[in-house]
Amino acid sequence: MKNSKDIINYINKIPKSELHLHIEGSLEPELMFKLSKRNKIEIPFKSIEEIKSAYNFSNLDSFLKIYYQGSNVLITEEDFFDLTWEYILRCNQDNIVHTEIFFDPQSHTERGIKFNTIINGIDKALKKANSEFGITSKIIMCFLRHLEEESCFDILKQALNHKDKIVGVGLDSSEKGNPPQKFKNLFEAAIKEGFVTVAHAGEEGPPEYIWDSLNLLKVKRIDHGVQCLKDKKLVETLIKKNIPLTVCPLSNIKLCVFDKLENHNLKKMLDKGLRVMVNSDDPAYFGGYLNTNLIETTKALNLSLEDVKILIENSFKSSFLDESTKNSWLSKI
Ligand code: ADE
Ligand code: ZN
Repeated sequence: MKNSKDIINYINKIPKSELHLHIEGSLEPELMFKLSKRNKIEIPFKSIEEIKSAYNFSNLDSFLKIYYQGSNVLITEEDFFDLTWEYILRCNQDNIVHTEIFFDPQSHTERGIKFNTIINGIDKALKKANSEFGITSKIIMCFLRHLEEESCFDILKQALNHKDKIVGVGLDSSEKGNPPQKFKNLFEAAIKEGFVTVAHAGEEGPPEYIWDSLNLLKVKRIDHGVQCLKDKKLVETLIKKNIPLTVCPLSNIKLCVFDKLENHNLKKMLDKGLRVMVNSDDPAYFGGYLNTNLIETTKALNLSLEDVKILIENSFKSSFLDESTKNSWLSKI
């Protein structure tokens, strides 16, 4: 039986993969302040401390309002490069060797920023990450589910020029009241174009949204999915089909999905044999990057070394890496 110091050491040292990270959610207050000055964009905060103290959320929507406001400082390709590069430096510190990054083009194109500006900035930083640190990555483009399907079709069309950079499409933003069926045709078109699909489901929304993401949107992974335990048949299906659930513990606490980390259902999901792993979601807003998420969760739920090992194995098994690369990382754990 290993003690918790040994487990924390293991977490810090072991190579890891992250599968649920919104690049706009890695915008630290310091960079937000710097970019607001560089681009002469007003933000409703006078200091970094004021930004940090605004990060008290009561649910997903209360967070999204601040998160979209923060994204307004991102204007140029250099801004998107700097944002992504700062996250990569954190990956390097945390020994994340592979990351699959979400971006929300509509939160920028709706402000007049060109699609090419966004994707090229992110992509250049990821290429540098590979050449400098050997970190590999994939880009997943998320549609904002509070918008209409028609506006999402416009974005899908623009993404077709960047198939070499974008591996898949996802669905994020305000979940309740924006069910998966709203985007059935969009996801069908995306699949026809060769994109893999994922979707945020069962973060705040009901288990039906997880069912519909599987059946209508044909997703390969569910982002969050923590509400699945309310539906026994759904749990059986997720296990049988080996569907990964990209769980984000600190995010769930900050957005009041669970009242405290000790009451998070990750350990129950793990014990049932669901393919779960730990991710940071929007680390600049939720109080920690991947290792902090893993360490805090380990302490709160009393996870064993074996539990942590399974979480890390699942992070590679569930990635969109090719099988031989997956196996090569798995052999090192
Ligand atoms: N966009 C950024 N973070 C999100 C989350 N946790 N849920 C839904 N949309 C998001
Ligand atoms: Zn998310």
